[in-house]
Amino acid sequence: MSDKTIPRLGLGTYGRTGSEGVAALLKAIEIGYRHLDTAQSYNTEQPVGEAVRRSGLPRGDFFITTKVADTRLDTAQFMPSVRESLDTIGVDQVDLLLIHWPSHKDAVPFDDYMTALVEAQQKGYARLIGVSNYPIALLEKARSLVGKDTLATNQVEIHPYLQSPKLVAYARKIGLPLTAYQPLAKGEIASDPVLKRIAEKHGTTVAAVALAFLIGEGHIVIPASGSEANLRANFAALNVSLDEADMAEIRKLDRGYRRINPEKSPGWDD
Ligand SMILES: NC(=O)c1ccc[n+]([C@@H]2O[C@H](COP(=O)([O-])OP(=O)(O)OC[C@H]3O[C@@H](n4cnc5c(N)ncnc54)[C@H](OP(=O)(O)O)[C@@H]3O)[C@@H](O)[C@H]2O)c1
Repeated sequence: MSDKTIPRLGLGTYGRTGSEGVAALLKAIEIGYRHLDTAQSYNTEQPVGEAVRRSGLPRGDFFITTKVADTRLDTAQFMPSVRESLDTIGVDQVDLLLIHWPSHKDAVPFDDYMTALVEAQQKGYARLIGVSNYPIALLEKARSLVGKDTLATNQVEIHPYLQSPKLVAYARKIGLPLTAYQPLAKGEIASDPVLKRIAEKHGTTVAAVALAFLIGEGHIVIPASGSEANLRANFAALNVSLDEADMAEIRKLDRGYRRINPEKSPGWDD
């Protein structure tokens, strides 16, 4: 895989725990998924590693992301937590290591964990590094601390109902790819009439249209599913090409509808 390229479509693994999780992951790998998104807080690092090994495919075929939990950002815990993630997944290096959430109210100083992230990459624990749930102000702070081209992505909630135009414009300006989490708004877009009409026109599913739209906007998408039919439908987004009229119509669906907004959230841009 070339240097900073992140496969455009990955598999969200939240909820895919235990042996059922391994089975769903193996099914996804059989369908063609190679980019797997886990996190210390999901309890899916072990199933991801097990599925990768049991697939029989070489490690190099996969793109594995994990995330340092916001409860482990302090200097004492950061690096041991990353080593523990590598052991749990059963790899020497992840492809991408993210800060899952910025430290709430700077309980851990920003510079400490951003510097630790860079150190984790220098130690070879991660090929690429990035962040998650960072608004523009924190991206700017991060870039002035760790360098303009150091971060490979910012993983944030983006779907047709939350298109985050300010953050997207900023990310485009600085050339930072965004990874869209909850790209299907947890399935809530499934009954959208505009998406349904566009899906019928292209002979595909609503989910594939939503994902193709996000990819068309330049984002990486990581939809999750435990069902084979949905895994297939989502993967098929790679074969859907929307025209400019479709894209323009879907852009109008933005309503600033944010699903994930816990107490620890930073100030969002829109
Ligand atoms: N960085 C962060 O803070 C953060 C936060 C949240 C999520 N994430 C990542 O993003 C991934 C995706 O988010 P998510 O799992 O919360 O939400 P999502 O991918 O938007 O939606 C998953 C839900 O949609 C349903 N679904 C999937 N495919 C479908 C289809 N083709 N048609 C209809 N319904 C469909 C699934 O049900 P079935 O299982 O029945 O298909 C599941 O209930 C997570 O797994 C995680 O890796 C990151």
